[in-house]
Amino acid sequence: GLVNTREMFAKAIKGGYAIPAFNFNNMEQLQAIIKAASEEKSPVILQVSKGARNYANATLLRYMAQGAVAYAKELGWEHPQIVLHLDHGDSFELCKSCIDSGFSSVMIDGSHLPYEENVALTKKVVDYAHQFDVTVEGELGVLAGVEDEVSSDHHTYTDPEEVIDFATRTGCDSLAISIGTSHGAYKFTPEQCTRNAEGRLVPPPLAFEVLDAVMEKLPGFPIVLHGSSSVPQEYVDIINKYGGKLPDAIGIPEEELRKAAKSAVCKINIDSDSRLAMTAAVREVFATKPGEFDPRKYLGPARDEMEKLYKHKIVNVLGSNGKA
Ligand code: G3H
Ligand code: 13P
Ligand code: NA
Ligand code: ZN
Repeated sequence: GLVNTREMFAKAIKGGYAIPAFNFNNMEQLQAIIKAASEEKSPVILQVSKGARNYANATLLRYMAQGAVAYAKELGWEHPQIVLHLDHGDSFELCKSCIDSGFSSVMIDGSHLPYEENVALTKKVVDYAHQFDVTVEGELGVLAGVEDEVSSDHHTYTDPEEVIDFATRTGCDSLAISIGTSHGAYKFTPEQCTRNAEGRLVPPPLAFEVLDAVMEKLPGFPIVLHGSSSVPQEYVDIINKYGGKLPDAIGIPEEELRKAAKSAVCKINIDSDSRLAMTAAVREVFATKPGEFDPRKYLGPARDEMEKLYKHKIVNVLGSNGKA
């Protein structure tokens, strides 16, 4: 069945790699994730947001995730290491509902709350979750951009002085931190960037000094990075070539994620890149084969492109291939 993150994270920290946490909303994304993870023998976290759960329907989703384990075995993955994780849980009730319906891991995101409220809410979720051996991710620090309904126009980096107290008092199993990543395809404005020789925008570096300070306070504790899409320019170019409009979409350079994966960062969240892969493939079919109207003829290529993307992340960025 599904597994929680405990053993997976401990191994990843020791081994100097990170587990991919890929969001999914539909069958094609799920198929692509499972195929990539199975073929690369990579532990994987299937991540579902509140919006995704509402979109896909909680009951269907539960069986889709169970089906994913069976599908992985069918693909020849003997012992699939698959987590079903709630992304950005915003209340105790939502976390409880997910735990009660078979999730093996949840995030309670109290990062926008006053510190003591974040501690109390996270602890309440942990106390419930641990009764069922479900692992819990908490968050300290605020990412710029939109997180569910909450939006912030600037980063509040995680305060390393708070992390010991937070981890100890809440009992959380992992901690998401803010070091300059953000959600979506517009992580930096062009004004914040410099240009390289090819004229591409290069973003300012992540605050690795904050990550280092956190790791010094909590040696060996599992750290999570949200907002880690790299916004591949090939996809942005295809989308814009075939009628899309995504000016100045900028992500996190993969080199920085490679560096993070070697540290105590053991979960890296990627959603936007998969959305871009899917959109690029669909737009290309629509533009080049205007006679097609069978969804399999455009969702099929989209699925293939996502699988390619997931494999690339697993093998070339996170280094989780061959670890399960
Ligand atoms: O953190 C945000 C994830 O990319 C999920 O996004 O809430 O639109 O499903 P969503
Ligand atoms: P991206 O928008 O960078 O893919 O981040 C996804 C994420 O953090 C989901 O929680
Ligand atoms: Na790591
Ligand atoms: Zn996130």
